[in-house]
Amino acid sequence: MFSSTARALVLALLALEASAAQKGTPTVSFNSTAGSTYLPNKDYSNEQLAMLWYQVGPVSTHPVVTATVEPTAEPSSYAGPGEFHPLVASNYGEQLAEAKLPADFAWGLSSSAYQLEGAARDEGRGPSIWDLLSHRNPNQVADNSTGDVLAQHYYLYKQDFARLKSFGAPYYSPSISWPRIFPFGKGPVNEAGLKHYDDVIAELVKNGIQPALSLFHWDTPLALFNQYGGWTNPQIIDDYLNYAKFIITRYDKYVPIWFSINEPQYCNWQYSYYPAGKLYPDYGVGPGMEARFLCGHHTLLAHAKLSKWYHNEFKGRGRITFKNSGNYFQPMTNSTADLAAAQRSYDFVLGWFGGVWSDGDYPQSLKDTLGDLLPKFTEKEKEIVKGSCDFFAIDAYTAFYVGELSGGVEACAGNKTHPSFPECVNQTAIGPDGFGIGPAADLGASWLKNTPVGVRKFLSHITKVLFPAVKDIQVTEFGFAEPFESDYTNVQDATWDLRRSDYIQGFLDNILLAITEDKVNVTGAYVWSIFDNFEWGSGIKTRFGLQYLNYDTLERTPKASWFQTRNWFK
Ligand code: NOJ
Repeated sequence: MFSSTARALVLALLALEASAAQKGTPTVSFNSTAGSTYLPNKDYSNEQLAMLWYQVGPVSTHPVVTATVEPTAEPSSYAGPGEFHPLVASNYGEQLAEAKLPADFAWGLSSSAYQLEGAARDEGRGPSIWDLLSHRNPNQVADNSTGDVLAQHYYLYKQDFARLKSFGAPYYSPSISWPRIFPFGKGPVNEAGLKHYDDVIAELVKNGIQPALSLFHWDTPLALFNQYGGWTNPQIIDDYLNYAKFIITRYDKYVPIWFSINEPQYCNWQYSYYPAGKLYPDYGVGPGMEARFLCGHHTLLAHAKLSKWYHNEFKGRGRITFKNSGNYFQPMTNSTADLAAAQRSYDFVLGWFGGVWSDGDYPQSLKDTLGDLLPKFTEKEKEIVKGSCDFFAIDAYTAFYVGELSGGVEACAGNKTHPSFPECVNQTAIGPDGFGIGPAADLGASWLKNTPVGVRKFLSHITKVLFPAVKDIQVTEFGFAEPFESDYTNVQDATWDLRRSDYIQGFLDNILLAITEDKVNVTGAYVWSIFDNFEWGSGIKTRFGLQYLNYDTLERTPKASWFQTRNWFK
C-alpha cells in the first residue's frame, strides 16, 4: 500500500515523464522504494540531527551558490593549448598506430561525494566521519580544509554534467553520499537527499552519460561511529546493506556498473589512527592493527552479501564489484627472497580481499603473520565471498620496487612491534641503481610517481598470475597530482599541467598495449578526477583534477590534461 506521500511522489514522477517525453528528452522513472522499512518514520527529529552537527562544530557555507543552479549552454570549444606548445606526444606511436580500443570500452572521469559535493549541512544531510575528522581532529588535514563547500557540486551538478557531455565520455563514476540518504546511517530517509540523487541520475541520463556508481566512498555516517564504532563492528554490515539495497532498488535501471565499496584497503590508513574515545565513544577497539583488519573483514562481508543479493534475489541488470587500491610491485632482483617479498606485498594489499577469486578466505601469509588479529570467516561466509565480483576493478596509480626486508622477513613477522609489521618487506620508489622509479607528483602525494609501464605489467600480473579466475578488469582510477599546482597565482599557469598530461598519455598508451599486445581483457578506464577536490589528509592544495577549480569563485577551467585525455580517446 502506498502512503499519500509515496503516491504524490509517483504521480509527480509520472508527470515529469510525460513532460520529458513531450520534449523529446529520455524518459526517466525510478523504482519505487515505498514499503521499505527505511521510508520516513516518526523517529526523524531535527534535534537529533542538530546534535550530530554540534559534535562536528560550525560548518561553512558558500555566500552565493546555495540552491541548485540551472545550466547555461556550454561553449562549442574551450580555451586550450595553442600554437606555442604541443600536448604530450606518445612514446608508442608506431606500435599503437593501428591499435583500437574495444568498441564498448567504458571510460570517463571519476570522483566521490565528500570530495566535491560541498553543501555539507544542507537539505537534511547527516555528518559523516569525514566531517568530524576534518573539523575536529587536529592535524588530520594538512591545509586544514574541510568538505564544507569545495566545488558545491551538490548545486552545480547540472553544469558539470553539461561539460562532461561536451567532453564526450560515455561514463562518469561518482559516489552517493550515504548520510545524505540516511542522516543517521539507518532509520529515516532524508527525502530531500533522495530527490537530489533522483535528479542527478536523471540529469546524467539526459546528457547521455552512464553512471558507474560507487555506493560507499569512505563517508561512513557519523551516527554509526557514535553508536558502535563504524566498520570495526559487525552491525555495520546490516546497516550498509539496507542503505545499498535501497539505492540499487531505486536506480538499477540506469546504472550498468555498481561499485559496492571504494578501496576497502583504506581500512589500513583510516583505522590506524582513528580517534575513538576522543571524538566519539570508545568501543574497545583502539586505532591500529585490530581495527584495520576488523574493518577489512566487515567491509568484504558487506560487499559479498550485497553482491549475492544483487544477482540471486534482486536479479539486477548490471554488474557489481568493489574497487581495489593497489600498485605494481617490481621485485628488486630475481632472487627468491625478493620475489617472495613481492608476493607478500600483493597478499597484504590485493590478496586480503582476493578470496573473491579463489576459496573465499584470506591468504596463508596473512593468517600466519596476523594470528588472532585477523578475523576468521565461517565456511558459510567463505561461500558468500567466493565469486562475489563480476569483474576486477583496480585503482592503479603507481608502482614500487620491492625487496627483502633487511634482517629478514621472519624476525619481523614474528614481532608485532616491528616497524614494518605486518607486511615485513622493503617497498621503495628507488630503483636498484639508485635512480627514482618515475617523476614525482605534488609533495602532498609523496607516494605517487609517474610509472606508465607499471600499469601494463600490473594488468597482466593481476589477471595472469595473481587471480587467473578474473575474466575482465577495469582501471577504475588513475590520476596525477601536478607538483606545486596550487602555488601558481593565475589560472593560465596552473592549467598547463604537462606532468599530468604525460602521466595520462603514458597510462592510456600502456593500458592499450596491455589489451593489444598482452591480450589482457581490459574493459574500462577512468581518470581521477573531474576537477580538483578534497584530497583527504592532503586537503585541497594537492590537486588531481583535469579541470582547475577556483575555490572562491567555483569556476572550473579545463587544463591541458583535459584536452590530452579527450584527444587520446578521440
Ligand atoms: C583513490 C581514492 O579513491 C580517491 O578518493 C583519492 O582521491 C585518489 N585515490 C587520489 O589519491
